[in-house]
Amino acid sequence: MALLEVRDLRVVFQRRGTEPFTAVDGVSFDVDPGQTVGLVGESGCGKSVTSLAIMGLLPSRGNKVSGQVRFEGTDLLTLSDKDMRDRRGRDLGMVFQDPLSSLNPVIPIGLQVTEVLERHRGMSRKAAMVEAADLLGRVGIPDPQRRLSEYPHQLSGGMRQRALIAIALACRPRLLIADEPTTALDVTIQAQILALLKELVRDTGTALIMITHDLGVVAGLCDEVNVLYGGRVVEKAARYPLFADPRHPYTHGLLASIPRLDGARGEKLVPIKGSVADNIPWDHGCAFAPRCPNALPVCREVTPELEAGDVRSLRCHNPVLPGTPAAQEVPA
Ligand SMILES: Nc1ncnc2c1ncn2[C@@H]1O[C@H](COP(=O)(O)OP(=O)(O)O)[C@@H](O)[C@H]1O
Ligand code: SF4
Ligand SMILES: [Mg+2]
Repeated sequence: MALLEVRDLRVVFQRRGTEPFTAVDGVSFDVDPGQTVGLVGESGCGKSVTSLAIMGLLPSRGNKVSGQVRFEGTDLLTLSDKDMRDRRGRDLGMVFQDPLSSLNPVIPIGLQVTEVLERHRGMSRKAAMVEAADLLGRVGIPDPQRRLSEYPHQLSGGMRQRALIAIALACRPRLLIADEPTTALDVTIQAQILALLKELVRDTGTALIMITHDLGVVAGLCDEVNVLYGGRVVEKAARYPLFADPRHPYTHGLLASIPRLDGARGEKLVPIKGSVADNIPWDHGCAFAPRCPNALPVCREVTPELEAGDVRSLRCHNPVLPGTPAAQEVPA
């Protein structure tokens, strides 16, 4: 049994006077301890809604969540709000894109860490201060003792994200969800935060769900990758086959649209044409058809199913042929 088993997760938003909107449409994946699983796709494909549903953080009104989110066999979707709050303090941690809005601006960083330690791990204030400094040090914040008394605005963006990771780690979560944790940071800091997450997963055995629109982030970090389009998984594979030989036209397009380190100077990046606004509903065929260079007439008539093969699962009537260029170097 995996640590987390997400099965057929579905989130439908229903506002009065509007058509129901299915943001997450039957998503399934597993995460094991010490494993990093990526959820990747353009903005609006349902990544954040998936993570909020797993964490029990979607608003209680105006949406319907179905399927299963089994954590060590317990379906989190069946737990009460109170039990879910306990879980979030104990087993589940989350790091968001924007550390400034996730940190409390009027409380010193140290207090925000010790608060978690006192509340969820029952530590005394004194012991919590020692542990907080240790945690800030572990996430690479220099001079942690001094930083404890500083406020979020006194820290740089990269340091704030480190502080947020320290707060998430304070509960020793067994599952950490990082939703675009480096999107707001510049490239150098981004690389440092990714290296930190990688190290934490390796050293603590924490399971990590990495959410990003950036395939470059996934390439260095994830063991397994789920590519999402229109709320559905369209391709699922281990990192190497996914990057070396992407078969779904959408994955292929995503790879062709990011710069390669080994690419020739001035090499043209090929963006995917159109936007998610062009989607057609999945029940009338393939949602990606209006943007897909491989589309056949059948694609607008028959909904493709996610078919599991030896190396990958694929939802496509006319996949890219193996070996078609656009494949990226896969970092070791
Ligand atoms: N509270 C909400 N009410 C209605 N629609 C929502 C809500 N939250 C997200 N959505 C819609 O669900 C889709 C998926 O959103 P999201 O998961 O945030 O995408 P992303 O992959 O960029 O994280 C989007 O079309 C978004 O507009
Ligand atoms: S099913 Fe058809 S339209 Fe959809 S991705 Fe595959 S080839 Fe393209
Ligand atoms: Mg998002």
